[in-house]
Amino acid sequence: MSDVIIMDHPLIHHKLGIMRRKSTSTKEFRDLVTEVAMLICYEATRSLPLADIEVETPLTKTIAKEIEGKKLCIVPILRAGLHMADGILNLIPNAKVGHIGLYRNEETLEPVEYFCKLPSDAADREIFIVDPMLATGGSAVAAIDLLKKRGISKIHFLCLIAAPEGAKRLQAAHPDVNIYVGNMDERLDENGYILPGLGDAGDRIYGTK
Ligand code: PRP
Ligand code: URA
Repeated sequence: MSDVIIMDHPLIHHKLGIMRRKSTSTKEFRDLVTEVAMLICYEATRSLPLADIEVETPLTKTIAKEIEGKKLCIVPILRAGLHMADGILNLIPNAKVGHIGLYRNEETLEPVEYFCKLPSDAADREIFIVDPMLATGGSAVAAIDLLKKRGISKIHFLCLIAAPEGAKRLQAAHPDVNIYVGNMDERLDENGYILPGLGDAGDRIYGTK
């Protein structure tokens, strides 16, 4: 079974608190998505393998460390994942980026796929899927299904807020994928929204409602 790693960090609690307020502006909300994504990325990359490299400092030669193997690939789920990807690119500027387009059918709550474009060597890379919200888990499960059908196996999932229902569904469908969560909220409401949550992440990032 995969791990659900809940950040429980003061900076993340503080920033999510601002994001939850309905009075928070579109610009402030968008900036906070990027900032919280950077903080979660710090934890989600903790176990990446390192290799020794020889470097020359101004004083001497020494053995330093670098991340082993091919660089990472960030895969935002459109639309709301895009600003999380921007945050992670601030920390890992050489990462490649793939995109998966999914939206939830408002009646069935099931995901509908409309776009998928990945780097050709994605199967050789550690993949970090990013989406602010893990609600029913349908979108996350579908995104990972898509990647696995293309032979991709080293997958991590990062979100700002999860519902227990979505985390359980994702763990059951993909027990090999660790889930990094800014905060685990209480539950879903009858429309599949996370409570207390922060509303519709895409609409709040882009000001579309
Ligand atoms: C939101 C969110 C996730 C999905 C989560 O996207 O960004 O992708 O819902 O819900 P689930 O876990 O129940 O699948 P939405 O479908 O609203 O699309 P958008 O990002 O284009 O607004
Ligand atoms: N998608 C969102 O953006 N917010 C939720 O609470 C649930 C799904």
